Amino acid sequence: MDIKTALEKMVEKLKNTDSAELDAEVLLAFILGKNKEYLFTYPEKELTKIQLSKFLNLIKKRATGEPVAYLIGEKEFFGLKFFVNKNVLIPRPETELLVEEILKVAKDNMTIADIGTGSGAILIAGYKSMSSYSAKKRSLRLEFMATDISKKALAVAKKNAEFHKANIKFFQGDLLEPVKNKQIDIMTANLPYLEKKDKKNLRFSEEIGLKFEPKQALYSGKDGLDAYREFFKQVAKLSYQPKFILIEFGYKQTAKLEKIIRSNLNKIKIHLKKDLGGFDRVMVIELFDDSY
Ligand SMILES: C[S@@+](CC[C@H](N)C(=O)[O-])C[C@H]1O[C@@H](n2cnc3c(N)ncnc32)[C@H](O)[C@@H]1O
Repeated sequence: MDIKTALEKMVEKLKNTDSAELDAEVLLAFILGKNKEYLFTYPEKELTKIQLSKFLNLIKKRATGEPVAYLIGEKEFFGLKFFVNKNVLIPRPETELLVEEILKVAKDNMTIADIGTGSGAILIAGYKSMSSYSAKKRSLRLEFMATDISKKALAVAKKNAEFHKANIKFFQGDLLEPVKNKQIDIMTANLPYLEKKDKKNLRFSEEIGLKFEPKQALYSGKDGLDAYREFFKQVAKLSYQPKFILIEFGYKQTAKLEKIIRSNLNKIKIHLKKDLGGFDRVMVIELFDDSY
C-alpha cells in the first residue's frame, strides 16, 4: 500500500477524534523517521508490511484516545522538543505563558526553582531562552533547580535537560521539602489543579486524553487546590523568601487561590495574566521584604 492510500484508510479509522488527518500524518512520519513534508512529496511510495503494521498499531491506540505525544514519545513546547512518557504530564501550550513571565522577572545572579517540574519543560525552556540571551549580553548568571515528587517524572526531566544541555539540579521530594534551605529568588510551579469532576470545559478528546496522564500530575483534592494550599503554607515558613512566585492555575480558581496566598503571605502584589483564550491562567506574585 502506498503512503497516500494508507493515510486515507487510517484517517477513516480516526474519524471519532478531532484531528484525524494531522494525527495520522504525524504518526506515519514518526514510523518512517521522516518529516511530514516527505509524505506529500512521495505519496506513491510503497510502505513495507512492517511499516504498515506499525502504523495500524499506533492508529488503533490513538483511536482509544491515547495522546499522540505519548505514542511518538515527544512534544513540542516553546519551540523545543521534549521527551515525554506516561510518567509526565504532556506540556500544554498555555504553560508557555508561564515561561514568558519567568523571562520578564529573571535578573542577574538569581536562583530559579521549578516545583513539580514533570518533563522539565518550563525550566528548560526558560534556561534555553536565558542562556541564548546571556550569550548575547554576557550578563545573566543564574542557577536552576527543579523538584518533583515522582522519581519517574524526574528521570524524564533529566533526560530532557541532558538533551538540551541545560545545567539544572534535580531533587526528589514533596513540594519545597528538598529545597527549603536554599536561597531561591524565583519559584515557579504548575502544580496539579484539576478537581476530578471538573471536565465540563474540556473538549471530548482532551477529556479522554487525561485518562492516560499521571493522576498525580492532574488532580488535587476536592477543589483542585490542595497542592497550592500546602505549597503556600510551606513558602510562608521559608527563612529566605523568594522575590517572585509564578504559578499556573485554573481560571475558575482565581479568587479562592488569591485568598489562600494572602492568608499565608504579607506584603505581596499579585499580577494576573490571561492565556490566549482570555482566561486567568498565571499569577505573578511579587514578594516584598517585610523584615523591617
Ligand atoms: C501539572 S504537572 C506539571 C508538570 C510540568 N511542570 C508542566 O508544566 O508541564 C504537576 C507536576 O507536579 C508534580 N507533583 C504533584 N504533587 C507534588 C508534590 N506534592 N511535590 C512535588 N511535586 C508534585 C507531579 O508529579 C507533576 O509532575
